[in-house]
Amino acid sequence: MTIINSNPRREARILAVGAHRPARVVPNSELVERIDSSDEWIQQRTGISTRHWAGPEESLTDMAVEASKVAIARAGLTADQIDTIIFATITYPFQTPSASTDVGARLGIERAAAFDVNAACAGFSYSVGLANDMVRSGTSTYALVIGAEKISDFLDLDDRATSFIFADGAGAVVIGPSDHVGIGPSIMGSDVTNRDAIAMEPSWLDYKPGADLAATAWPVIHQEGQKVFRWAVYEVAKVGKEVIEKSGLQPSDIAAFIPHQANERIIDSLAKSMELPDSVIIARDIRTTGNTSAASIPLAMDRLLTQHPELHGKNALLLGFGAGLVFSGQVVELPPAPLK
Ligand code: UT7
Repeated sequence: MTIINSNPRREARILAVGAHRPARVVPNSELVERIDSSDEWIQQRTGISTRHWAGPEESLTDMAVEASKVAIARAGLTADQIDTIIFATITYPFQTPSASTDVGARLGIERAAAFDVNAACAGFSYSVGLANDMVRSGTSTYALVIGAEKISDFLDLDDRATSFIFADGAGAVVIGPSDHVGIGPSIMGSDVTNRDAIAMEPSWLDYKPGADLAATAWPVIHQEGQKVFRWAVYEVAKVGKEVIEKSGLQPSDIAAFIPHQANERIIDSLAKSMELPDSVIIARDIRTTGNTSAASIPLAMDRLLTQHPELHGKNALLLGFGAGLVFSGQVVELPPAPLK
């Protein structure tokens, strides 16, 4: 007997986006003293003026649940219709069970495929690619894709290369069936020769069995800023060009550019290298959100659609890059703008 595939073959698109930013706004002025910096330096070198940090009363999955509820409601669905939960994050403080199963339990989603993706700041784009493949192949009908981080739990406030960059938040999209291509081919990859450029230290591997945990330092994020900057500007631009080409498009067919919000100078440099025309609307959510790793693209998408509702149905280039070093991108048709 030959195996048959009884799953429907179809296309997929993003049906809706949701976002949650923690209430506390942290201005540069709160951070500069400990790192001998200034509001002016941070704004000039990164574009960041404020960011949101969650307090001890709000966990990573609390934020993810809020963003997910919004995305599911905007998609016109109820939680029980979700059959896949993909959670992109690097700041869930437990090895197992996963963050995705926590969200599933709290939203009352039963029997859904649920797993976490650790692809750092490219995690959301990786997950959009996975969900697209799952919906297109019929493995899933409605996939909830979450990008969320509580990086403030993993920051060294005395580190001049990270303390003012990273921030907290959650974004989510629902990906479902479509009668036309709503998500183009994804490119996902890694450059493992630069594996140490961004890392949490000490890593779990340093927690040897039997070690005195109380005497072991809590992990914090470190990065070689310049190295990552150069890599992002040269290598990730090539990925963006390849994504556009693989989608059968020209840069002039792109209406919006929603890259990972790492540094506004990187964003500008990528747009220039990819020769995106001036008509392309560029997400600059970093200014008031900071770098939220896996959450940055869906948060930026939500804000961009609020500011430019006319982008609904238009093509946006998503481009993620980060620790690993990993990269990912695809062109997506933007969902409807959030209701005000
Ligand atoms: O999301 C994951 C991906 N991450 C990224 O893409 C991050 C990429 N990297 C960056 O965004 C930037 O490298 C940083 C924002 C981290 C640093 O900016 P930079 O322009 O690369 O600074 P730098 O390390 O080249 O330092 C330039 C100058 C130095 O002074 P001198 O030697 O020129 O006198 C540093 O001492 O700026 C000084 N400096 C600072 N000054 C004030 C370095 N850090 C700071 C600081 N505040 N925090």
